[in-house]
Amino acid sequence: MFKVHLLKTFGAALGLSFAVSTAVMAADEASVIYAGTLLDVENGTVQTDRVIVIEDGRITAIGSRATLDDIDVPSDATLIDLSDMTVLPGLSDSHVHLTSDASIHGYKRLQVSTPRAAITGVVNAEKTLMAGFTTVRNLGAPGFADIDLMNAIDAGDIPGPHMIPAGRSIGITGGHCDNNLLPYEYQKKSGGVADGPWAVRAKVRENNKYGAKVIKFCGTGGVLSKGTKIGAQQFSFEEMKAIVDEAHLLGLKVAVHAHGAEGVETAIRAGVDSVEHASLISDEGLRMAKRKGTYLSMDIYVSDYILSEGEAAGILEESLAKERTVGKAQRERFQAAAKAGVNLAFGSDAGVYPHGQNGRQFSYMVEWGLTPMQAIQASTIGNAKLFDVASDRGSITVGKRADIIAVDSNPIDDVSVLEDVGFVMKDGVVYKQD
Ligand code: ARG
Repeated sequence: MFKVHLLKTFGAALGLSFAVSTAVMAADEASVIYAGTLLDVENGTVQTDRVIVIEDGRITAIGSRATLDDIDVPSDATLIDLSDMTVLPGLSDSHVHLTSDASIHGYKRLQVSTPRAAITGVVNAEKTLMAGFTTVRNLGAPGFADIDLMNAIDAGDIPGPHMIPAGRSIGITGGHCDNNLLPYEYQKKSGGVADGPWAVRAKVRENNKYGAKVIKFCGTGGVLSKGTKIGAQQFSFEEMKAIVDEAHLLGLKVAVHAHGAEGVETAIRAGVDSVEHASLISDEGLRMAKRKGTYLSMDIYVSDYILSEGEAAGILEESLAKERTVGKAQRERFQAAAKAGVNLAFGSDAGVYPHGQNGRQFSYMVEWGLTPMQAIQASTIGNAKLFDVASDRGSITVGKRADIIAVDSNPIDDVSVLEDVGFVMKDGVVYKQD
């Protein structure tokens, strides 16, 4: 048997009722979690009274608390008693912008330097991790600020989730991924702008060179960009195909920003791995996505924030007008996608709205057609499959990283409890225990 160091007692002795920003355990320490309730997202089942053993940041054994003797527990393991909580894998978000501040939009953004955005990213990385999100895909950042953010987190310099950064988003001149706020004489153009198949291939290669782990491009206009139409396709099929082929040659997945039906269909045909927003996806688009296994990453919460807080944050009136046409339609198309059984990712577009509130989207996904278990699966094992990291993360399984969270009550009964995560472990290190 094992020596019991009650982490709770230990914390109380130090006067910590802790939401800690510094990890309280070293990664190489062994620990044992008592899980009162445990969600098995691989099988979609709920278990009770389980024990999880963690060594060197990975899960080494899982068993029933009743038959503890069968489990190999290191003698110096720290006991983490979550017997009155529900334990589940760390959540993930397939679409965030950690370097963006939700209170700064439109022309206000022109005042934000890349170094300032990187500092914003440091703050938001911690907020995101503390909200229970242990893996995020960062779909676009100025410069390559998100690559450095990932490196700083991985080096242990700052707390944050595992990151899959895109670096610069690729887009057409004057498109959603360009910056169209200033008149001609300023000659302003975003770093990811390129036109033509070879030029876009070069951008993919350049993003790869500077450390991008996923490629993001804009395949239609967007809500928040000036002068673009959400229904209008951006890039020809040939250009999209060039981006996808080049990325896949380099072993990178591709995420396309696309709202309008035609842009969505063209991008799926070109072979993208996920469609971000997919707001106006057609029935044919749903069929294509289902056939090809393409994921839809539909950010169905953010509309509420844009329409209530957006104006104060500087969002342009033309963008608010676009949002009014697209917000509800997107939720209806999400419902159709859920009904059609298309792969759904959990992607929130946090950064447009405040980081750390990513979990608010769960209840919307349930309201619009998923069961709570399906919504949780989207954010755990589902996203892990999309990111191609499912052998390493996405479920509480022996051999995988110990990215584990816990909440006060069972989210299967009320998924909104995921908005208030009380315990966060990443790679076996406890970052938060309320
Ligand atoms: N970044 C996206 C865009 O500008 C945000 C869209 C938000 N609206 C929505 N209904 N999902 O297009």
